[in-house]
Amino acid sequence: MSPQPKTAQFTFQGKVIDLPVLSGTEGPDVVDISSLYKETGLFTYDPGFMATASCASAITFIDGEKGRLLYRGYSIAALARNCDFLEVAYLLLYGELPISEQRQTFVKQINQHTLLHEQMSSFYEGFRRDAHPMAVMVGVVGALSAFYHDSLDIHDPQQRELASFRLIAKMPTFAAMAYKYSLGQPFLYPKNHLCYSGNLLRMMFGLPTEEYKINPVLVKAMDLILILHADHEQNASTSTVRLAGSSGANPFACIASGIAALWGPAHGGANEAVLNMLRQIGDKQHIPEFIKRAKDKDDPFRLMGFGHRVYKNYDPRAVVIRESCHEVLSELGIKNDPLLDLAMELERIALQDDYFIEKKLYPNVDFYSGIIFRAMGIPASMFTVLFALARSVGWVAQWQEMIADPTQKIGRPRQLYQGYAERAFVPVEQRTVK
Ligand code: SDX
Repeated sequence: MSPQPKTAQFTFQGKVIDLPVLSGTEGPDVVDISSLYKETGLFTYDPGFMATASCASAITFIDGEKGRLLYRGYSIAALARNCDFLEVAYLLLYGELPISEQRQTFVKQINQHTLLHEQMSSFYEGFRRDAHPMAVMVGVVGALSAFYHDSLDIHDPQQRELASFRLIAKMPTFAAMAYKYSLGQPFLYPKNHLCYSGNLLRMMFGLPTEEYKINPVLVKAMDLILILHADHEQNASTSTVRLAGSSGANPFACIASGIAALWGPAHGGANEAVLNMLRQIGDKQHIPEFIKRAKDKDDPFRLMGFGHRVYKNYDPRAVVIRESCHEVLSELGIKNDPLLDLAMELERIALQDDYFIEKKLYPNVDFYSGIIFRAMGIPASMFTVLFALARSVGWVAQWQEMIADPTQKIGRPRQLYQGYAERAFVPVEQRTVK
């Protein structure tokens, strides 16, 4: 006997309706409210989507209470410790870890697309040298649709896959070029005999005048950080990509919209904001003053790198990054990093503070990522660019999942209207200043 389908009863003005309750593999059940408006004339209201599932997805799962993160069922710690970034990219895209032949083919497919159309490098000339590299990334990634017309048809699975390969392959080239442009140094072409993160680091830090020596410690650290940032359910930037994709916009435009959304300091821009905050705090003795400000409702200051919409426990990515902070710093011969010491002390004090305990504010992935990036010689302005580079894999995987869903339709939320009731037009000669 199959179990009775679960329903939730909704009563309004004497009318009782049964709404289907759907269960996933893990996580909270959901009430399907798609018939609510038809049955009751009511919308639901959930600004910020605090308790709203925007879609069904099989890619990533977060258990916020327990601080768990799974990519296609595998724990983030296991993937971070045992995979490289392209292996995780394959997993997110195709749903399974690749066997060695699949992995080799995938690496070859990505490597075929690491170069940009030569004309695209002139785009960079249009930016000021001191432009924020995220401004550059939004522009150049969106411009891919001006060059690669053979991968714009979202109804053709092959074109969708080709666009996905191009995005994953070209993000390191774009990112490194944005960095080189800010320095006034020449662009380096990708070298496909290098691994994904090795290629990225060489294009960022190499020079045409000498051989670039790959540092395996930095490559491993970069791969780890890219893996940790690759996907994260329906966060603000992924939801932006899905919403843009739901209108049928081409994949490059959708990813550019994700980059724009990620830039905000409440989201992917937090890693840069954490480093700026640590520099602002400057010394351990100033920590209490900043903790006090973070708790003051009248002060817009927030403790950057703390808190999360979903995690009400440690962000598992922060746990992994925190551990590798020490590894990377000591393997780079950095005995004591004052900013890391300051971050550890800030974390220690904050986690003992009743306000942070009561509101379940723990360090998130952005709290430590900047420490490692900085130790690797990466400037704060590039932190979110690298976050976008990593997240492009998740955005592409989520976009593919949405487009392939036969039930998907254009996303078009409604609203609670609080403006004027209809009123008569007032000719300009009768108007008064309100
Ligand atoms: C990312 O969604 C994702 O998955 C994002 C991400 C991903 O991988 O895609 O994980 C990446 O964006 C991580 C988060 C990076 N952002 C920051 O570190 C910025 C600082 N954090 C805050 O801005 C905040 O915690 C958010 C934006 C992350 C979450 O905000 P919510 O869920 O809307 O929570 P909230 O702002 O309503 O805060 C709840 C309470 C509030 O107090 P009350 O109004 O209840 O009294 O906690 C307080 C907030 O004032 N609070 C903080 C705080 N974060 C929340 N107080 C001080 N410092 C903070 N950092």
